[in-house]
Amino acid sequence: MTRTLSQSKRNRMLTALWYLLRKPHKALKSIYRDRHDTQWWQQYVTKSYGLGLGLPQVDLLELIPEFEETITPYAMLEAAATPMDIALLKGLARSYDDCDYLEIGRWRGESITNVAPHTNTCYSLSLSPAQQSQAGFSNSMIRQDGFFITPEQYPNITCINCDTLSFDFSTLTEKFDLIFVDGDHHAAAVTSDTQNIFPLLKDDDSMIVWHDYADSPEKVRWAVLAGIMDGLPPEEHRNLYHVSNTLCAIYTRKKLSATYQEFAITPDKFFEVTIRAHKLEAPAAAHSQGEARWNKSR
Ligand SMILES: C[S@@+](CC[C@H](N)C(=O)[O-])C[C@H]1O[C@@H](n2cnc3c(N)ncnc32)[C@H](O)[C@@H]1O
Repeated sequence: MTRTLSQSKRNRMLTALWYLLRKPHKALKSIYRDRHDTQWWQQYVTKSYGLGLGLPQVDLLELIPEFEETITPYAMLEAAATPMDIALLKGLARSYDDCDYLEIGRWRGESITNVAPHTNTCYSLSLSPAQQSQAGFSNSMIRQDGFFITPEQYPNITCINCDTLSFDFSTLTEKFDLIFVDGDHHAAAVTSDTQNIFPLLKDDDSMIVWHDYADSPEKVRWAVLAGIMDGLPPEEHRNLYHVSNTLCAIYTRKKLSATYQEFAITPDKFFEVTIRAHKLEAPAAAHSQGEARWNKSR
């Protein structure tokens, strides 16, 4: 265990050193930004785009009037999108006749397995086991990659292992109705992902959802917003919204009414939450594509 930890630490240090030697100016700038993250990015977004209050907020019920979803599977553990965010994705996927869905960032596969039954095709782009290891992810994280994505249950999901920062997006010949961006959340990575996926939208009804636009439904995550703004063509900025009650920003050409909101928002709706837990009969090994990939890659 200690050996594994120090190995991944070493890998991270080597990657950082390599980056520092190759692009010293950019590396030093990003070190500075990471240290002063929130404030720096808030100032950047305010100065560059005049969005001191973040994106205008669209009401969830304007976007999806009949909002009722069951979220399953869901691990109720770290790093997945929240049930609300997954419910938003499901509701949006349902609004298309035959939704073609692309997602960046898979981990256990909770968002994609929830959306899959309401789609025609689903593509998942996410780091390979070796890339995760190089990024310093622990072995237990890597083993859970794709945990819920069983091919028999979700035959319409195609997993592509890649680093989206170096992936050749022109190899994707499909176009998509709905694209979910939930990979690397550093501003530069969000910019790059946004630039790469924007040309993959199918038509005027297509949408993009970015996860972690906000840290809570009322608190903007400024670095992610900066990445979104820098990545989208300026003339498209007016089509960006924060969806109320979620951590998500969306891009849509639908004309929606929206308002700028500030903490603390007075509730104008209430939600009903039922939670039911089911024991997994055969944990990890039998359920996990990640486990299979992990074993294969050793
Ligand atoms: C927050 S998790 C995704 C959670 C998932 N969308 C859900 O809600 O169930 C982020 C994922 O992005 C992947 N990731 C991080 N950086 C990436 C990159 N540069 N390219 C591709 N995938 C990346 C990680 O391996 C991880 O699986």
